[in-house]
Amino acid sequence: MDKAKRAAVIAGNWKMNNTPAQTTALIEEMKPLVADADCDVVLCVPYVDIHAAVEAAKGSNIKIGAENVHFKDKGAFTGEVSAEMLTAVGVEYVITGHSERRQYFGETDETVNLRTLAGLNAGLKVIVCVGETLTQRKQGITKELLAMQTKIALKDVTKEQLQNVIIAYEPVWAIGTGETATAQQANEGNAAIRAAVCEVYGKDAADALTIQYGGSMNAANAAELLSQPDVDGGLIGGASLKAVDFSKIVAAASK
Ligand code: PGA
Repeated sequence: MDKAKRAAVIAGNWKMNNTPAQTTALIEEMKPLVADADCDVVLCVPYVDIHAAVEAAKGSNIKIGAENVHFKDKGAFTGEVSAEMLTAVGVEYVITGHSERRQYFGETDETVNLRTLAGLNAGLKVIVCVGETLTQRKQGITKELLAMQTKIALKDVTKEQLQNVIIAYEPVWAIGTGETATAQQANEGNAAIRAAVCEVYGKDAADALTIQYGGSMNAANAAELLSQPDVDGGLIGGASLKAVDFSKIVAAASK
């Protein structure tokens, strides 16, 4: 399938930033700037900001996502939030497997898989993050690692559910460091992920899958990264906290 036929998705990942009041102000500022987008626009925000974000985004083309989801429906899991809780407050997207969750909060490929399944089973669109560390890149195992992370994250995900999956290739060494992957590195990573998906789900499903790049994507480098044949969008951290910068990335993704 031609890249032009895949949904381009620009998603912000606010991480641990913004109060509800700041959320309202930032989304009000963004709304007119991204109103003409010819791509899907998503903001993944902290749990406590979801209500303010959903209210502020109402009637606009901005969709709201969460930054994580637990894999159980309910129970004794202090500090966690279920997929049902998210859909109940108007969330449409969720991120799973972000490298900061893997690095600081003990997420494994297996828990990423369970969280992904929980999100999909609740009808959420899931942005699954995969990516190699600098050590792994130097060891020359990037493609194998991306294939493995992808296949485990998608274990038991049906072909039909795959339509609600977005994968974000996020090289860990490029996140929050200002060091962006070159356009070629980004495309190679995305292509390796698409090849792994093809092995499991076949060419049509792999060709239809939106695969983002994430890691220091900004207003200045977005157009080049997004012009790559296998880069269908971006997962944006730092630059999603600034309305003008984020809107420039959205504009770069709009075909
Ligand atoms: P960054 O974060 O754009 O600040 O590098 C990207 C991400 O972690 O999703």
